[in-house]
Amino acid sequence: MVENGSRILASVVASQLDTHGKYGGVVPELASREHLRAIVPVVREALAQASTSWADLSAIAVTSGPGLVGSLLVGMTFAKAVALVHGLPLIAVNHIEGHIHAVLSQQEVPLPALALVVSGGHTHLYEVRPAGAESDEPGYRYRLLGRTRDDAAGEAFDKVAKLLGFGYPGGPILDRLAAYGDPHAVRFTLAKMKGNPLDFSFSGLKTAVLRWVEAREMGAEIAQRKALLRERPHPSLEEWLQMTPPATRDLIASFQHTVVEELVRRAAVSAAQVGAASIVLSGGVACNSALRSAAPDAAHGLPVFFPSSALSTDNAAMIAAAAFPKFERREYSGWDLKAEASLSLA
Ligand code: KG4
Ligand code: ZN
Repeated sequence: MVENGSRILASVVASQLDTHGKYGGVVPELASREHLRAIVPVVREALAQASTSWADLSAIAVTSGPGLVGSLLVGMTFAKAVALVHGLPLIAVNHIEGHIHAVLSQQEVPLPALALVVSGGHTHLYEVRPAGAESDEPGYRYRLLGRTRDDAAGEAFDKVAKLLGFGYPGGPILDRLAAYGDPHAVRFTLAKMKGNPLDFSFSGLKTAVLRWVEAREMGAEIAQRKALLRERPHPSLEEWLQMTPPATRDLIASFQHTVVEELVRRAAVSAAQVGAASIVLSGGVACNSALRSAAPDAAHGLPVFFPSSALSTDNAAMIAAAAFPKFERREYSGWDLKAEASLSLA
C-alpha cells in the first residue's frame, strides 16, 4: 500500500520459494495455486499493517503483465472484484515499469535515465524520460534500447546454479559463494552480438559452464552436493562453503564476473548513447553484490541508483508506486482489462 506514489504504508510479500525450490524452478501450475491461496491473507495483512480500511483507498493497482498468465489472472480477478465492490478505479501496471518505480518512487533520480531491469524474466535496457517535456504531465515515457536474445540474467544464474547442484533460486547463493572465489580464474569469452550491439545473450555462457563441468568431471561433487541439500535445504554459510570446493568457487566467481561485466558495460554504453543523466538498476539481480559494487565504477561518473533490497525482488509496493502517475492522469482501466503474458513496456 503506497501513499502519493512514494510513501510505503505496507509491503507484504508471500514467498513461494519453498514450494518451487523442490522442483529447481518455478512450476506455473503451483504458482497460480499459491497465488490463489495467498491473495486474501496478504491483502488483509497489508490493510492491517497500514491501519487502513477499504474506505481509505483511492485506487487499486494491478499487474497486467508480463508474467505467468495463471498468476496474473489471480491478481487481475481479485483486483477487479475489490475495485468493483468498493467503487475504486482500477489501474493496470506493467511489471517492468513496477521494477523501475522501485527506484524512481524512492529516490531523486535525474532524468533522462538509463534503466536496466535484470530479473528472472528480463534483461532489458530502457531510456526513461518524463512523459511531457514541455507540459507538466505526470508520468514517464520508455524506449527499449536492448534486451536479452535468450536467457535473462537471473535465469542464467538460476540455470548455472541448478547445473552445479545448488537449489533454486540460484542467484542469491551464487552471489554469496562468489565472494570466496577468484573472478579471474576462468576466462569466459562471449560471442559477439550481431544486429543490435546493446542486446544481451547468456545462453552461450551457460553452455560454457556446462562444458567446464564436463571437462573437469564434476559429476560426483555435484551429486554429493544435491544429496547434502536434500538433507539440509537451508545450510549455513560455513556448510555452503564446505560443500563447495575452491575450484568450484572460482568457477562461480568467474561466471558472476562475466555476467556483471556484460550488464554494466552495456548499461554504460547505452547511457552515453542517449545522453542519460543517471543509471537505474532494478529487478531481482540488482541485489547482486558484485553488480552493486561494479556499476558505479563502470558508469563514467554518472550516478547509479539501486532499489532497496526489499524492493529489488518482486513486490506489490512498486506496482502501486508505478500506478500513481497514471492515477494523476486518470488513466483507469475498464472491466475488460486482460492479463497479458508477454506485455511489453515499449
Ligand atoms: O525480480 P524477481 O524477484 O522476479 C522476476 O521478475 O523474475 O527476480 C528473481 C531473480 C531470480 O532469477 C534470482 O536468482 C535473481 O533474481 N536474484 C539474484 C540475486 N538475488 C535474486 N541474482 C544474482 N544475485 C543475487 N543476489
Ligand atoms: Zn520481477
